Amino acid sequence: MTGPQPVLQAVDLHRDYPVRRGLFAAPAVVHALAGVSFSVQAGRTLAVVGESGCGKSTLARLLTMIEAPTRGQLLIDGVDVADTARQAGADAASQSRLRRAVQIVFQNPYGSLNPRQTVGAALMEPLQVNGVTDATEREQAARAMLRQVGLREEGFGRWPHMFSGGQRQRIAIARALMLKPRVLVLDEPVSALDVSIRAQVLNLLVDLQQAMGVAYVFISHDLGVVRHVADEVMVMYLGKVVEHGPREAIFGNPQHPYTQALMSATPTVNPALRRQRILLQGELPSPINPPSGCAFHTRCPIAEARCRVETPQLAPAGAQAVACLLVPAVGATEAANAALLQTP
Ligand SMILES: Nc1ncnc2c1ncn2[C@@H]1O[C@H](COP(=O)(O)OP(=O)(O)OP(=O)(O)O)[C@@H](O)[C@H]1O
Ligand SMILES: [Mg+2]
Repeated sequence: MTGPQPVLQAVDLHRDYPVRRGLFAAPAVVHALAGVSFSVQAGRTLAVVGESGCGKSTLARLLTMIEAPTRGQLLIDGVDVADTARQAGADAASQSRLRRAVQIVFQNPYGSLNPRQTVGAALMEPLQVNGVTDATEREQAARAMLRQVGLREEGFGRWPHMFSGGQRQRIAIARALMLKPRVLVLDEPVSALDVSIRAQVLNLLVDLQQAMGVAYVFISHDLGVVRHVADEVMVMYLGKVVEHGPREAIFGNPQHPYTQALMSATPTVNPALRRQRILLQGELPSPINPPSGCAFHTRCPIAEARCRVETPQLAPAGAQAVACLLVPAVGATEAANAALLQTP
C-alpha cells in the first residue's frame, strides 16, 4: 500500500507518568499511553474516541510536542521529531518549523485566550514570534484570518470577554491557524459550547480544512460529533487502540465489544445497536495496574478465559483493524473459506 506520505505518523507511542501513592507506598507508574500507532494524511480527519482517562489528551500533548514520548516515534512529513530535537543546537530552524507544523485547540476557549490581549494581538503574536517583522503584513494576515473564521473585522481591536463562547472558539481556531500548520489537534473543541452553536463551529472546521488542506486529529467523547467530522476513527481503551478504521466501518459495523458498547450508549448514531443495548460492567480500571491479557476483559460482555491471559494485537477485520481475540481476523476467515473451497 503506497499512498502519499502521511503528514503525521505515530509509531508505538508510549507515555508513562511516575506518581506517588502516599508517603510510604512505592512510587507507581501510570501508563497513560501504551503503544499507539497511526498515520494521518493531509486534509483528512482522524477522530480519537474513548472514555475519560483513556489517554486522549496525553496523545494530544505528544503530537503537539508539549511533552516528549517515553518511547516511540513521531514523524511530521517523514521527519523524526526526536532526531531533530536531539540536534536542537545544530538545527534550531528545522525544529521550530516542526513545532509550527502542529497546532492545538483546547476545549475551553475561555482559558486559552489571554484576557489582557486584544483579538488582533492574539492573532498577530504567533507571526511575530516566528519572525514576520513587517507589522502591516501581520495585521493584514490577522484580519484576513478573522474573516476566514466567520468573524467581523471590527473584532480585531476588541477583547476576548466581549465575545460569546462560540466566537471565542473561532478566535482560538484562528490563532492556531495563523502559522498555516500541517496538522491541527482539536481536544474536545466543541464540548464546552452550547448545543445550538456546536454545528456552526463544526461546519467552520470542515470548511477551513477544505480551504487550507490541514489535517485534523479530532479528540471527542461525543460519537455524534465524530460521525459528523471524521474520515477515520480510532477507539482507545486504557492507553491502547482497540479499533481503528474508516468512519463508515466503525459506525456501520463496529467489531470490538468496547466500540459496540460505546455505540449502543449513543442512541442517535446506530439505531440497530441501540436495540441491543450493551451495558459496560464496572468501572474503568486504573492505568497504573491495567488488567492482564486483554485490558478490556474485566468489563467485556463476551470475555472468555483466555482473554485474561493472551494480549490481543490490532489485526485486520472487516474494513478496519481490531484488537480482540474473539473477532476473527480477515486472514483467518479467508484461509477457512479457501480450505472449504478446496474440499472436494
Ligand atoms: N501529568 C500526569 N501525571 C500523572 N498522571 C497523569 C498525568 N496526565 C495524565 N495522567 C493520567 O493518564 C491517564 C490518561 O489521561 P488523559 O488526560 O490523557 O485522558 P483523557 O482520555 O484525555 O481523559 P478525558 O476524557 O477526561 O479528558 C489518566 O489516568 C490520567 O490520570
Ligand atoms: Mg482529555
